[in-house]
Amino acid sequence: MGFICPVCGESLSEREKDFICKNSHLFDKAKKGYVNLLMSSSSKIHGDTKQMLRARERFLDAGFYSPLKERICAAAEKFAASAKTVLDCGCGEGYYTASVGKSLKCNELLAVDISKDALIMAKKRDSSLCAAVASVFKLPLKSDSADLVLNVFSPLANDEFLRVLKPGGHLIRVIPLEEHLWQLKSAVYDVPYKNEVGDLSLSGFELVDKEDLTYSLNLTADYLKDLFCMTPYFIKTSKRDSEKLNDVNSLKVTASFGILVYKKV
Ligand SMILES: C[S@@+](CC[C@H](N)C(=O)[O-])C[C@H]1O[C@@H](n2cnc3c(N)ncnc32)[C@H](O)[C@@H]1O
Ligand SMILES: [Zn+2]
Repeated sequence: MGFICPVCGESLSEREKDFICKNSHLFDKAKKGYVNLLMSSSSKIHGDTKQMLRARERFLDAGFYSPLKERICAAAEKFAASAKTVLDCGCGEGYYTASVGKSLKCNELLAVDISKDALIMAKKRDSSLCAAVASVFKLPLKSDSADLVLNVFSPLANDEFLRVLKPGGHLIRVIPLEEHLWQLKSAVYDVPYKNEVGDLSLSGFELVDKEDLTYSLNLTADYLKDLFCMTPYFIKTSKRDSEKLNDVNSLKVTASFGILVYKKV
């Protein structure tokens, strides 16, 4: 397996019920197929909750972001067609991970998320992927070992992505552009703000491609609530503001993504 021991950095070997390194550090394999490689006391680190993940799964399976999935796969095929090791950082429930894995037919499809519930769902989508609970800020991978890193709406760990990628390896990053979900934010907040895109350069990387993808989503009340629930707004928004969505029957919402491809220089 492509993950390393978070204690000593040696390779991990897979056994029936656990993973072990040559220094005998042991990590149990959960029945649902992931391994927990998170070393820090994680009580303060929370990933997405089951409720958020299930909302995202329903929303994504309804196809609302399939144009984005297709663009991500096309970028992967264009820039990393011969990738052997692919790592999805903050993979969520594996919607993009599984599709990129299928498009590239890589040898190793690795998925990391801080939420074990996300990894359980990702394994259901694609049982072939290797899933580890870990932080993107301390990835359980050897330096210079990945051909392609995915960073789709998940925290950006510039230094770690640079470390784990092979020289010449690629990073595909997806960010929300200014207008993304504007109507949803306008329905919820008294004073909505547009997203700030800012400086796109990343240290140690060359930005080799940037595509924008903007389209409208026609959402019924249920999907609108799922969309709200799968975003970080769900956690940040007051009950008073969140409840405004109960009065909305349907809404046309702008989806607007930046798909950025970087090469490790
Ligand atoms: C908005 S979701 C995106 C999930 C997936 N990439 C997608 O677009 O469907 C962000 C994901 O990052 C995970 N996450 C948040 N902080 C993290 C960290 N420090 N390390 C690893 N994963 C993290 C969350 O648990 C969540 O699954
Ligand atoms: Zn070890």
